[in-house]
Amino acid sequence: MDTTTLDTTVSNADFLATVATKSDGAALRGDYAHADEHYVVQQNWAAYTEEEHELWRKLYQRQMSLLPGRACDEFIEALLQMNAANGIPEFEKTSKELYAATGWTIVAVPGLIPELTFFEHLANRRFPVTVWLRKPEEFNYIVEPDVFHDFFGHVPMLFNPVFADYMQLYGKGGLKAMKLGGLDQLARLYWYTVEFGLINTKDGMRIYGAGILSSGGEVEFCLTPGTTSRHIRLDIERCLNTLYKIDSYQETYFVINSFQELFDGTAPDFKPYYDKLKLGEAFPANSLLPGEVELLP
Ligand code: PHE
Ligand code: CO
Repeated sequence: MDTTTLDTTVSNADFLATVATKSDGAALRGDYAHADEHYVVQQNWAAYTEEEHELWRKLYQRQMSLLPGRACDEFIEALLQMNAANGIPEFEKTSKELYAATGWTIVAVPGLIPELTFFEHLANRRFPVTVWLRKPEEFNYIVEPDVFHDFFGHVPMLFNPVFADYMQLYGKGGLKAMKLGGLDQLARLYWYTVEFGLINTKDGMRIYGAGILSSGGEVEFCLTPGTTSRHIRLDIERCLNTLYKIDSYQETYFVINSFQELFDGTAPDFKPYYDKLKLGEAFPANSLLPGEVELLP
């Protein structure tokens, strides 16, 4: 394939067809009819029902009963400042505060969006947040990301300047990985850091990954010693080469010591990693390699 002229024109219909195939023919949940060419929509905040605001409050309260002492301080402090306890927030309002803090904005999207579009948003310091909220019967578990996962889980961390810069570089790295054939590898890094990352702090191990922070069960599970899951120091090449599970608690958590470490460790050119890892087999999600130390025995 000619990697310099990657076709980046993915039509709406192509995208929907792709996702339908990926998820066993199930249709995507969002309303894509009113999305613009960047998949951006209006949040239409006034249309949320009182039942939806009530469900949000319950989700929020449940997570906040679990997160003190488990989520990192950066997350908790930003979340409290966001005033998101009383119902589904207005993106506009938080977006302005976020922009003042780190130059990021929030854009509303109908749900999952094409990879290229996602990377372009991140590379331009825009975070796409799904507008719809899960159903009450999905209180504990949801397959596709909804507004609670996207907003509650991801947005607070974007108030941290170093993490915010990491996210932008990740977006640029995604555009590059599309041309280099490194998307599978790079997606693993996102999964194991942005979604399921843990961080060592002076007070102990804490969560910064949005997939955990917005989940009822995994918040406790991921910090429980003695489970069958691994907690190992983040090594970039190892992480890029590790498969992950999308339908169970993670079998491996990668632990960083600081967001600066994450930023610095991912700054080098990934092309040599992609070239090397493409040729070999990825590690299963539950591997512990010689020399690796379990941090929560
Ligand atoms: N440094 C990576 C590259 O050259 C890009 C990247 C940065 C990826 C930050 C992830 C996070 O491809
Ligand atoms: Co997410």
